[in-house]
Amino acid sequence: MSVTQAPFPLARHRRTRASAALRNLTREVELSVNDLIWPVFLRDGEGVCEPVASMPGVNRLSLDLVVKAAQEAEALGIPAICLFPYTDPLLKTEDCAEAWNPKNLTNRAIAAIKKTAPNIAVMTDIALDPYNINGHDGYVRDGQIINDETIEALVKMALAQAEAGADILGPSDMMDGRIRAIRSALEGANHRNVTIMSYAAKFASSYYGPFRDAVGASGALKGDKKTYQIDPANRNEALACVERDLMEGADMVMVKPGQPYLDIARAVKDRFGAPTYAYQVSGEYAMIEAAAANGWIDGEKVMLESLMCFRRAGCDGVLTYFAPRVAAILQG
Ligand code: PBG
Repeated sequence: MSVTQAPFPLARHRRTRASAALRNLTREVELSVNDLIWPVFLRDGEGVCEPVASMPGVNRLSLDLVVKAAQEAEALGIPAICLFPYTDPLLKTEDCAEAWNPKNLTNRAIAAIKKTAPNIAVMTDIALDPYNINGHDGYVRDGQIINDETIEALVKMALAQAEAGADILGPSDMMDGRIRAIRSALEGANHRNVTIMSYAAKFASSYYGPFRDAVGASGALKGDKKTYQIDPANRNEALACVERDLMEGADMVMVKPGQPYLDIARAVKDRFGAPTYAYQVSGEYAMIEAAAANGWIDGEKVMLESLMCFRRAGCDGVLTYFAPRVAAILQG
């Protein structure tokens, strides 16, 4: 029996569905442009727009075109853009020094965007994988990922990004203790208002495949990331990681992947109430695009439905490759 409607003569839930006006009036959550964070792929060169094969409609953009894209996103009202570099294989090393080079691709892009599109927040990724010869998010020694030395590198990376003007730092590496280390380094360097969105509940997922193509990490990656990313079976462990990261100084937390992990998003929002985001990852995007390209689903409708469902699950926002398309639709 419904608890929201009198049972007599019949719980006619169709009454409030009968017209667009009633449906609009009774809708429980909304999807707005304010909920969108747009991940983009950077590469070197000028005037380069290079398609990512496994992500139709997504391109790697050179700096000049990323700046343009950020201006367009800003005009659409998208609140944040998130940068991921495709790194020249020649710049990948064992010590990953390019990661904290103040003039690396990401840091140049941050500065350029802040100058030309000051009203869009710039988010970054903190992890060593784009710069690591073995494709891992942390240093590898004797086949092991070395936690604490990796954190020292991540801190340098975070400070360089903050210095370049980043608004939101996104540690996606899953090393233990990195949020505390990054937060205290930011405090020490007078970057008190730089926010951290922790990839707190990040699972060891096979949905990241197209992304690793996009950033050129697929070929490089040796083995898998199961010793640092969370087992897809583990909900309690994910909640413990979120709690830990909030205690260590994260302002916002993320669940990743998105759609298959909506139960985690709901649990995070209910338990902690903190600003909660989901990442609709590359594999989720690719699946929708592939089915739409075959005419098997209505791509636009599925895109909008998938994003609405993140809101219903308690997410305050979503990182999605669909962001500009959705924004254009929502802005009419
Ligand atoms: C890397 C990183 C990954 C993603 C965001 N940051 C891939 C990984 O962990 O291997 C995935 C995003 C996506 O699939 O869209 N630190």
